[in-house]
Amino acid sequence: MGRYRTAAVTAAAVSAACVWLSSCSRTREALPARPTGVPIVLKTPLGLPPVAVPPDNPPTAGTVALGERLFLSTLLSADHSISCASCHKPERGFVDGTQFSSGIGGKKGDRNAPSARNAAYYQRLFWDGRAGSLEEQAPGPMTNPVEMAHTPAGIERDLSADSSWRKEFEQAFGPAPAGESPVSMGRIAAALASYERTLVRGKSAFDRYWFGGDKRALTPEAARGFEVFRNPGKGNCVACHVMDSKYALFTDNRFHNLGTGMNAEGELTDLGRYKVTRHEGDQGAFRTPSLRDVAGTAPYMHDGSLKTLKEVVDFYVGGGNANPHRDKLIKPLTHLSGPERASLVAFLEALTGEDAP
Ligand code: HEC
Ligand code: HEC
Repeated sequence: MGRYRTAAVTAAAVSAACVWLSSCSRTREALPARPTGVPIVLKTPLGLPPVAVPPDNPPTAGTVALGERLFLSTLLSADHSISCASCHKPERGFVDGTQFSSGIGGKKGDRNAPSARNAAYYQRLFWDGRAGSLEEQAPGPMTNPVEMAHTPAGIERDLSADSSWRKEFEQAFGPAPAGESPVSMGRIAAALASYERTLVRGKSAFDRYWFGGDKRALTPEAARGFEVFRNPGKGNCVACHVMDSKYALFTDNRFHNLGTGMNAEGELTDLGRYKVTRHEGDQGAFRTPSLRDVAGTAPYMHDGSLKTLKEVVDFYVGGGNANPHRDKLIKPLTHLSGPERASLVAFLEALTGEDAP
């Protein structure tokens, strides 16, 4: 899955942080962020393809453990109150169940936090795809003023103050030149990304039914829902939430306008992908989310505007919200009967998986 354009992913992560914030120290940037340990093989559960790994950041036991510790650490936020796990709660499917998460000082953004699970399969991260890799994504929340509001230099300083962090960075990525700290933004981003690559979930009832050949794994209603989901004359959901003969990512990794997030005046309140590309046709377009584990990640859509899966299905039945940029594949589905609509929900509920082996 050769989706990494260059090998310089971790360097890109550092420069991304430098774009977001002006404070970047030269020495930190020069510190190699390549893991020194033995690369581990990431096992994937039934229904999911192997996880692509950038050549300069193969996951190791050391970087994955460090990444998990970082994910849970509040030191990544300016006042040490917020961790990645504050919004991506491991015990809640790596979401927090609110429409808009609270960052530092209770500040709120304007997009719903997606799960960090299976994020390894997205070609572009964030609802608008503004980051090209998990390494490039990680500095975003750390420096976002309504999320963790820290600075790269501040984070490096706060972690370096504790010898247990210095030791773990050294073990994972090798020592720093004498008198310098082994902690760097590039290394932080690389470790977080490797940890996130282990958060894959599959082997749901649907996977056991479809890929595992266990015809009793789905209830009859969920099995009918699957037919509605993939039948072009019925739901045709699979046009964007795609699957192939061996795997189902349930995302085409592309951006579509469904008319979500429109105000009472019928205006798009978030231009989505357009903010990144400035292409007219990208107005109000968001990346197709995977539907794996979707039953546990309410509320839904980039703005968390739909509270239940039934509301989502009703939204599609209504044909989304009409606007000049609505995707051609989005049409009213009023021909779906009541039981067919309910079966779609049952199918979506059968996508709840198990952690990777
Ligand atoms: C204050 C809440 C908050 C915190 C803290 C936070 N995130 Fe997020 N995260 C979000 C929101 C909201 C989005 C979606 C933003 C967007 O798309 O514009 C997001 C998006 C993501 C994505 C992209 C997922 C996708 O489907 O594209 C990943 C990966 C991620 N966060 C990981 C992290 C990591 C790693 C940290 C810690 C360094 C972190 N987050 C801290 C709220 C948070
Ligand atoms: C034209 C492509 C397209 C088609 C067809 C499509 N979807 Fe989606 N789906 C998307 C996009 C894009 C989003 C995110 C929109 C947003 O956030 O504003 C989404 C969001 C969702 C979500 C919310 C997931 C989350 O984590 O918030 C669910 C559930 C969903 N779709 C189910 C379906 C079902 C069921 C069908 C068929 C009736 C369907 N989709 C058809 C593109 C599509």
